[in-house]
Amino acid sequence: MYSRDRYEDNGFLVFEGFASEDECDQLRTRAAEMVHEFDPAEVVSIFSTHEQNRTTDDYFLTSGDKIRFFFEENAFNADGTLKYEKEKSINKIGHALHDLDPVFECFSRSQKIKDITTAIGIKNPLLLQSMYIFKQPNIGGEVTCHQDSTFLYTEPIDIVGLWFALEDATIENGCLWAIPGGHRSGLKSRWVRSPEGMRFDVFNAEPWPEDQLKPLEVSKGSLILLNGLLPHRSFENRSPRSRHAYTLHLISADADYPADNWLQRSPTVPLRGF
Ligand code: FE2
Repeated sequence: MYSRDRYEDNGFLVFEGFASEDECDQLRTRAAEMVHEFDPAEVVSIFSTHEQNRTTDDYFLTSGDKIRFFFEENAFNADGTLKYEKEKSINKIGHALHDLDPVFECFSRSQKIKDITTAIGIKNPLLLQSMYIFKQPNIGGEVTCHQDSTFLYTEPIDIVGLWFALEDATIENGCLWAIPGGHRSGLKSRWVRSPEGMRFDVFNAEPWPEDQLKPLEVSKGSLILLNGLLPHRSFENRSPRSRHAYTLHLISADADYPADNWLQRSPTVPLRGF
């Protein structure tokens, strides 16, 4: 079966050895530098304000065209200080690494990534979102079962997630799990902006058939393509090994990108293709 047919059939596709050891290590080194240069005081002040929920939401909701640092849940003491060193507390960096950092931009806009998005049929792709995910040893949190189109919706739905394993991803250190073919059951919900704040519009309240989840254990350098409607998740990392990953989401410029999606760009940082 051709790759594109397999992708359309299963809702995901695995390419072992897509990125070289060197490419993975360049991204890892750059992320480590960024964390090193990052002063957590600017975020700690947000977490220790009297209006904690509102300010942490703002920090997230205005991060679509920035490089920002997000901590593991439970990373903070009651007084807003970090329990562990910052290098061991960060959950992810997001969401415009691919536009604002030269190392991540070079990788994200490589010819081979352009070729693969063309091959699976995304027309006029735009690079919408990037995240560097640490999945820290021992404390890496779970991500519950979801569809990426819940958070990054387009009309029609035309989005692909690219998930790069920068280290071996196994069941022990919290690899991805997905429900093969689950993208065919439609979009269950949307997370939308409203005057009262963010809310979920639920179209189908059935629980996910999580007994159908399959682990996607992959080696360092592998790429997993994920259809925006594919249900997937990852479990906590309780192992002593980290599970670093880099993710990119691409949409078609031909699709409508609604103004009530959480991720919005200022006009000075427009979405770009390759
Ligand atoms: Fe996801």
